[in-house]
Amino acid sequence: MHKIYLDHNSTTPVLKEVLDVMLPFYKDNFGNPSSIHSDGRAARVSLDVARDQVAELIGARPSEIVFTSGGSESNNFAILGVALALNSKKRHIVTCEIEHAAILNPLKQLEALDFHVDYLPVDSLGRVDPKKVEDALTESTSLVTIQHANSEIGTLQNIKEIGSLIKNKGILFHTDAVQSVGKVAFNVNDFSVDLLSMSSHKIYGPKGVGALFVKRGTPALFSPVCGGGQEKKRRGGTENVPGIVGFGKACQIALDFINKGKLKQLKIMRDLLRDKIEGLIPNVEFYGCSKNRLPNTLSCGFDGADGETLLIALDMKGISVSTGSACSSGTGMPSKVLSALKLPLSKINSSIRFSLGWANTSEDIDFAVKALAKAVVVSRRNPL
Ligand SMILES: Cc1ncc(COP(=O)(O)O)c(C=O)c1O
Repeated sequence: MHKIYLDHNSTTPVLKEVLDVMLPFYKDNFGNPSSIHSDGRAARVSLDVARDQVAELIGARPSEIVFTSGGSESNNFAILGVALALNSKKRHIVTCEIEHAAILNPLKQLEALDFHVDYLPVDSLGRVDPKKVEDALTESTSLVTIQHANSEIGTLQNIKEIGSLIKNKGILFHTDAVQSVGKVAFNVNDFSVDLLSMSSHKIYGPKGVGALFVKRGTPALFSPVCGGGQEKKRRGGTENVPGIVGFGKACQIALDFINKGKLKQLKIMRDLLRDKIEGLIPNVEFYGCSKNRLPNTLSCGFDGADGETLLIALDMKGISVSTGSACSSGTGMPSKVLSALKLPLSKINSSIRFSLGWANTSEDIDFAVKALAKAVVVSRRNPL
């Protein structure tokens, strides 16, 4: 069966060029970067190259990159790292309702330790009002953590304005940029951001590796992984050398892609998908902020149809998408993100999300929309 993968916000395939640079590190170049001998030194040099590549993608200095086991660890590192380093002094954190679980869950842990967290609402397009962030700040605020892009609806937050409102107040600003890195051109120097999370497997790199950008001058964070003195004592444990080397290569390729202006292609393909859906399927609604959104993401609801049923029907045709409804998230709960947009349950349950990748073609879009149109008719005829 011909496979069409339209779920790149969940994960991406590892590019051949990425895998090629990784493989030697499982075999011949297996040295531990902390070893002094030549095998170790070779591994250390490769880590340095990868650090340069990751830093370059976001306009950071290499010394500002701390490698982690992925986006979740980076988020935990930022939140627990700030809160526990400043423990007892400043116990207030500001975030928003539609953050990833790797933000919300460490915050819950902190609440159990008597930290106070404000979860700001979003508007019907999924945007946080920067003014509300400013209004929420108190003398006890240690951290503001607001995502850059939302994985489900693609809405981009105005982190430039949010950062500028926080600046010079003795409060750190973290953004979860796991979904925007590689899909949106940006430079950390254009925002007043102190901490920024990245993940390799969202940009055609291997799973289980990521990074936290820690701006120079940021006070020392509590380390979530204590061990040897790796990562300049910021994150212990022998480095995942093959993974980091692959992540570096993926960042280099993403930057090249951005510099060649290819992000436009993602948007063209996503807009084609939207137009074809609108042309072929009545009563469809699109969610998220159409003006300020990831170029590859389209979240939509099909009144009277069931999202899970659509997902399964598409899967049977070899097409992978995801839903915002109960079962796909594995929690048994409707999507927190779509709920925060104040959509009724019936709409949430009728939604699916497409997230396109660099290899998707207009033929993929054509095939997927035709299959979707048929599935919507069947699902609407047979309500659950
Ligand atoms: C916005 C966001 N943050 C964090 C993560 C977690 O990243 P990882 O899978 O690398 O732990 C994800 C993954 O879906 C995400 O979408």
